[in-house]
Amino acid sequence: MEHIYPIFDTILNKEQKERLTNQRAKVIWMVGLSGSGKSTLARSLENNLFEMGFITKLLDGDNLRSGINSNLGFTDEDRTENIRRAAEVSKLFAECGIVTICSLISPTAAIRTMAKEVIGEDLFYEVFINCPLEVCEQRDVKGLYAKARKGEIKKFTGIDAPFENPSNPSLEIRTDLHNIEACQAQLLEKILPKIKIQ
Ligand code: ADX
Repeated sequence: MEHIYPIFDTILNKEQKERLTNQRAKVIWMVGLSGSGKSTLARSLENNLFEMGFITKLLDGDNLRSGINSNLGFTDEDRTENIRRAAEVSKLFAECGIVTICSLISPTAAIRTMAKEVIGEDLFYEVFINCPLEVCEQRDVKGLYAKARKGEIKKFTGIDAPFENPSNPSLEIRTDLHNIEACQAQLLEKILPKIKIQ
């Protein structure tokens, strides 16, 4: 960082913005296999919070990969850069007092630790959307598991690329055991106290 002079300490901070947005900022980081239900739950969480008057931003892996991350693939290095950028962008939104919901596979402990470090422990709230590989593969909403099994997609998470279960998430939701309404309710119930100003 040569010849760089950050001015972080002199610009308006998160607490000032939170007074305006009248909520506590958080980065809700949803982790899980493709097909586990991350995007569905992220979307419904955002809709529910919006209806209740919260200001939110949803950052979805597939969306980011069609814009800011469009030059990245699925090598370990690219996934790390994908998550690094998503974490930096989330931090920018959270610093504006916005509840930021991220939906990215984030497959390894190292990647998630990096995201947490970028965002800061106070803001980071990790939600493990837990669904066994067999069930995700059976659902195969996007038809990608079938392609990965045929070798048409390489390095597919859970098939020929790793997914490490989070060992100590802030919240774990089993989408194979509970129906969608129950999962949505569980998520909303846990998030609300984190973002509400008492
Ligand atoms: S991450 O591993 O870098 O966190 P991210 O969440 O951004 O992944 O993107 C995952 C999405 O990319 C999947 O939901 C799927 O639609 C698509 N995808 C395409 N190729 C792969 C692959 N090899 N592994 C996993 N997901 C893939």
